[in-house]
Amino acid sequence: MVKIEPITFTDADSDLAILQELHRSNGPYTTTSYYVVSASATPNSSDGNTSVPQSLTFQLSLKHNLPQKTGGNRIPDRTELELYKTFLSHSVSFKAIAADNSSKIVAMIVASIELWNKTVKVWEFIVDRRHQRSGIGQNLLDAVIRTACAKEIDRVVCETQNNNYPALQFYFKNGFSLDAVDTSFYHANDLERQDVAVFMKLKVRGKESEENETAVITSEKVPLSIDDCVNEICPNSGKPVSADSLTVYKGRIVGFCNSLCRDEFDNALAVFDTAISAKF
Ligand SMILES: CC(C)(COP(=O)(O)OP(=O)(O)OC[C@H]1O[C@@H](n2cnc3c(N)ncnc32)[C@H](O)[C@@H]1OP(=O)(O)O)[C@@H](O)C(=O)NCCC(=O)NCCS
Repeated sequence: MVKIEPITFTDADSDLAILQELHRSNGPYTTTSYYVVSASATPNSSDGNTSVPQSLTFQLSLKHNLPQKTGGNRIPDRTELELYKTFLSHSVSFKAIAADNSSKIVAMIVASIELWNKTVKVWEFIVDRRHQRSGIGQNLLDAVIRTACAKEIDRVVCETQNNNYPALQFYFKNGFSLDAVDTSFYHANDLERQDVAVFMKLKVRGKESEENETAVITSEKVPLSIDDCVNEICPNSGKPVSADSLTVYKGRIVGFCNSLCRDEFDNALAVFDTAISAKF
């Protein structure tokens, strides 16, 4: 059982040091299944401009029982941690805390908001190896999606690798699609090494989401407008509901008097979700 809580400025230094520790203790992953990536170009002979290819093809083919591959697990350095700290005001970074006496942080998701294209970008997403496959990653991602929807965000993007098969399975299970490939994101020879950056995207709301029902998280489809809020009074304080403190519950918009009340409710839901998935 875990509690999901936002990562705040107050604990940023100690929390981000734990992020490094999670990477260290998890170590690299191994896999015998991955998407083999290839890229090719057909020369343009028709208009005499041979330097501009006629067509470009990137292909990803999922293959199993390949020779074992070890995937990297880079530990973020001090510069990256400083950058992550600047994201904390966006309130889309969360930690999972063991709900036992240890109160240990067992997982984290660090994300930023890019307002110009209404995208949440996930920079770090890691669950302690001993706690994987118990729904914690799911709960952290749900917390990000819930916050993203409340902030009128359209898409969540996660960078991973063609060979991180567990992560790819996780993202596909959560309705993400493989949306972009960068064949030299890490090193000039990523393609030869078959360690290629791929970008998994989830459309969480908006017009594009309505057109593509399969990519939508069902309970997050309704736009968060106070006009659609089912209650007028905050259940905690008895004060009127505020337009910036709405969330989704059972597919309906519910409201609170302020974002603290709303976030407490969201956190409680995440804890209950974890408890239910652990027991049933
Ligand atoms: C990817 C990661 C964050 C997933 O977190 P998690 O807590 O283990 O995932 P969950 O338990 O919430 O899994 C939810 C679903 O995702 C899928 N899934 C997750 N891990 C999987 C795996 N190893 N193999 C197959 N499916 C997997 C399953 O469908 C799972 O549901 P199920 O257990 O009911 O079958 C975790 O494996 C991790 O930290 N990996 C190392 C770091 C990393 O690669 N992070 C991603 C950065 S790109």
